[in-house]
Order: sequence, then structure tokens, then C-alpha cells
Amino acid sequence: MLVAPSILSADFGHLARDVKAICDAGCDLVHVDVMDGHFVPNLTIGPVVVEAVAKAATKPLDIHLMVENNTFFVDLFAPINPEFISFHIEEEKHPHRLIQKIRALGIRPVVVLNPHTRPESVEFLLEELDMVLLMSVNPGFGGQTFIPSVIEKAKRLKEMIQKRNPKCLIEVDGGVNDQNIHALKAAGVDVAVAGSYVFKHADIKAAIESLKV
Ligand code: DX5
Ligand code: ZN
Repeated sequence: MLVAPSILSADFGHLARDVKAICDAGCDLVHVDVMDGHFVPNLTIGPVVVEAVAKAATKPLDIHLMVENNTFFVDLFAPINPEFISFHIEEEKHPHRLIQKIRALGIRPVVVLNPHTRPESVEFLLEELDMVLLMSVNPGFGGQTFIPSVIEKAKRLKEMIQKRNPKCLIEVDGGVNDQNIHALKAAGVDVAVAGSYVFKHADIKAAIESLKV
């Protein structure tokens, strides 16, 4: 399992310190939650702050857009050169076109599915994608309770991925901890996002290691 701590639960008064801490502790990606106050009822950070995160990070960035007007935000964050940019399928009329645009910018494209969204909604995009992100909480806030139906969704998605693009990864985001990580692994999940579990743990390194199952 690759581990992508979400900096939403970091101490924003000491953001560079916390980003360095997760990178030194062996995380694989730095997960950055971008919220616009419209698609989700919360507002986070823009390119000025994400630039500072990129400077402090020694691991690649995984930018999770929770916004209206995805194309505008892709253009805003592309100069920071993240490894991945993800956008919600629920908020995009032309996902196939946006995937091609992200790839043309030299960034790996990812589509995100809310808890209610069927895995079949990405079936005919899989060949174009490097990863699918399944939300295991409703997007907008850290510290929420894991929604277990994501396990069945990951299994169904894995079957489609094996048929259409075995290189495509599955990422899960929300309420992930050392208890549900084993079921996620068994369901075929490749990347675990964890915010509050990592940052509220007394030992960040031990928390990250406990997710590397
Ligand atoms: C929620 C965000 C998550 C969040 C996860 O909208 O996408 O990345 O930070 O936080 P935890 O792990 O605390 O559920
Ligand atoms: Zn996220």
C-alpha cells in the first residue's frame, strides 16, 4: 500500500514543518485537498500555499480538487508540477477531455467518485487514467467516519481495471486508519489517503508504517 497523508489535518501554523515530517517519515505522496466553498461547504488553499507545500515536500504532490470549474483550477495548479491532479466526475461535463488536458500538461490524471457514485461511471475512462480515487467519506472535511460500502465499490472497480487498464491505481480517501486498511488492501486498493489518523497519532512514522500493509 502506498500512503498519501492529507495535509488538511496538519498544523497550518507550521505547514512546512509538518510536510517535512511526513516526507521524512516515509510517505509516498503528499495529498493536498483544494476546496472552493462551492462544490463542497469548505474552503482550503490556493496555489500560493500549495507552492510552499511543494517547496517543503521531498515527495510528489497528489492534488485533490473539490471545486466547480475544474479546468480553471487545473490551469492554476499545473505550474506547481504535481504528480497527480484529481477532479470529481460529479462536477465535470467533459471528463474525457479534461483527462487529456491534464496529461498534455505532463501531470497524471485521476478521477474522483463521491460515495454515491457508481464505479461504472468511470468504466469508459479507465484506459485514459492513471488512478481512480474513491471517496470513503463525503468530501469537505477531515476526521469523518469511514463509509464501508467503498470496499465493495473498490472490488467492482478492480475487476473493470483488470480488464481495461491493469496499470490504473485505486486510491481511497476518508476515515482510513489501521483498522480498515486490511480490508482496503484485500479489495485491491493501492493508495491510502489518511489525514487525521496520521496527524493525530503520537508517532507519525509509526502511523504511516501501520498503513503500509
Ligand atoms: C476530505 C478530504 C480528505 C481528508 C481526509 O474531503 O478529501 O483528504 O483530509 O481526512 P481523514 O483521513 O481525517 O478522513
Ligand atoms: Zn482528499
